[in-house]
Amino acid sequence: MKQSALACGKGRLAEAAIGLLLAVGSASAQTAAPPSVTFTRDVAPILQRSCVACHRAGQSAPMSLCTYEDVRPWARSIKTRVVSRSMPPWHIDRHVGIQEFKADLSLPDKDIATIAAWVDAGAPRGNPADMPAQRQFGDDDAWAIGKPDLIVRFPKYRVPKSGPDLFPNIIASTGLTEDRYVKAIETRPVGLNSRRVVHHAVTFMTTDVPEGSPAVNPDIDLQSSQLIVEYASGKAPEIYPEDAGVLLPASSTLLMQNHLHSVGEDIDSEVEVGFLLHPKGVVPKRIRYSTHHGDPTPNPNDSLDIPAGSVARVDGYTLHTKPGKIIAWQPHMHIRGKYQCLELIYPSNPSNVMRRETINCANWDYNWHSVYNYKDHVAPLVPAGTVIHIVSWHDNSAANRHNPDPKNWVGYGDRTIDEMGFSWIGWVDLTQEEYEKELAERNAARQKKATTSTQQQQE
Ligand code: HEC
Repeated sequence: MKQSALACGKGRLAEAAIGLLLAVGSASAQTAAPPSVTFTRDVAPILQRSCVACHRAGQSAPMSLCTYEDVRPWARSIKTRVVSRSMPPWHIDRHVGIQEFKADLSLPDKDIATIAAWVDAGAPRGNPADMPAQRQFGDDDAWAIGKPDLIVRFPKYRVPKSGPDLFPNIIASTGLTEDRYVKAIETRPVGLNSRRVVHHAVTFMTTDVPEGSPAVNPDIDLQSSQLIVEYASGKAPEIYPEDAGVLLPASSTLLMQNHLHSVGEDIDSEVEVGFLLHPKGVVPKRIRYSTHHGDPTPNPNDSLDIPAGSVARVDGYTLHTKPGKIIAWQPHMHIRGKYQCLELIYPSNPSNVMRRETINCANWDYNWHSVYNYKDHVAPLVPAGTVIHIVSWHDNSAANRHNPDPKNWVGYGDRTIDEMGFSWIGWVDLTQEEYEKELAERNAARQKKATTSTQQQQE
């Protein structure tokens, strides 16, 4: 990998030198009080922590945010994006439901206030000596999960400069000689060009590849393969609870179902999947599953009905007959998607009243197929008989700036310009005893917290 992709911008010395020149130049004119919010002291540390992982040379974002020179032209745009919370990409609605996630990218309110105040004050540089050292990125930082224990890279596939969307199935061996369990997964299109053409890539596992199968479109029955992970543009990794995993058997093969689209030039698309594995010989206590939930019912094909120029709501329901725990939520819609909610409708109590709980809602931005991994102690517990209810809103009006054609009706379909409205839900099964035990533990913890805070109030 080239050095430029690893370092963030020019580094501290160069930044300091430029600042020094400017400072010397204006020293005689300095009578006003120093600005109260400055780039070097207040803003740069926030960008180094929360932005430059993507906003530096060679990464996914359109511009670098490493130095003052990089950042200054973007000041207004940065304020708009952080205040609207569309950057960093984290679209959970903060006013409803659970707010504790693993790998939460969002900015705390105080950082947003700092950035806004700095832009409003004219985006002053401040004292160059305050500039924090540029964050350095090693090869491993290319992966959000850290250095993978196993990387499976799929053969390249040519996407011509124009034409209909392509859906090739491509296989690659895991190369494993023994059974291993996965504890985190990240899918990455390799390089900027692949990122432009890969709309989504769903990885399945199979142990049943006929002798002499071609790497592209082999004759493998997807129904008999096991879903491992879904990826769509902008998706962050999946991270499982410590005691959970997904089996990758010895000699297994991965099959990736791709959805690719042309972008005006010939591109060789290439995708790789990185895995963190449980140690050799370790069989985690629970198996994690991930499947579609809440596809528009009764049948997606005729239930998703979005009239021209309007905002439409669609509902889908999936029954869980066994107890379990939701460990991750990933909304899925296409370009007209606007907002989605995950609700649980609990089995009826003795008075036949069904309780409904909104677990989370999220704004939708088609660039970002984010997965929200719940922290272990808040991962929603699901009693047997619960219905998972997914509500999706699609905006097919001209107000949706991503809408390619507000004059057309839209329905369900695979193409980017068709729509979908469901969630990928990651979960683990629990026995009835395990469910009751964990529920009791959570209730006890909640009780304790309530008591402590009442005591504090009384003191
Ligand atoms: C996970 C990667 C990632 C992180 C973290 C991230 N960005 Fe971005 N950013 C992107 C990508 C990719 C785009 C272009 C796609 C889009 O607009 O959503 C973008 C777009 C933007 C834009 C709009 C650029 C334009 O062309 O108008 C701004 C402004 C921005 N980011 C600022 C920030 C700031 C400030 C932070 C940190 C507080 C941040 N981003 C964190 C990846 C990221």
